[in-house]
Amino acid sequence: MSDTPEEEFELPQLYKRHVFACFTQRPPNHPRGSCGSLGAQPLWDRLGKRVEADGGGEIGFTSAGCMGFCSAGPLMVVYPEGVWYRPTTTEDIDEIYDSHLKGGKRVDRLVMILSR
Ligand code: FES
Repeated sequence: MSDTPEEEFELPQLYKRHVFACFTQRPPNHPRGSCGSLGAQPLWDRLGKRVEADGGGEIGFTSAGCMGFCSAGPLMVVYPEGVWYRPTTTEDIDEIYDSHLKGGKRVDRLVMILSR
């Protein structure tokens, strides 16, 4: 076994930015709540339409399960920056899309600061 660290190498990236959005839907009176019961679906529909309309393939969009902060939803996280957002309207989605996903400028007013 060698003590020399492995050489760093550049990994090819599939996307310029990759969004994971929580699609979990629990019943409205569930004690944990859910992004779905907090109105996520129309937001993710809008996001999906924006990604599709773009057609360039530079923005990845993945439906995720519960990300563990259910009462703070609807939640989405953008990589590579690791920024968590809590959008509440389709206009918020458009702003995140245009400003952050396409332009690289974080939308501070919609950022969700979470701690474990
Ligand atoms: S249901 Fe969305 S984070 Fe748990």
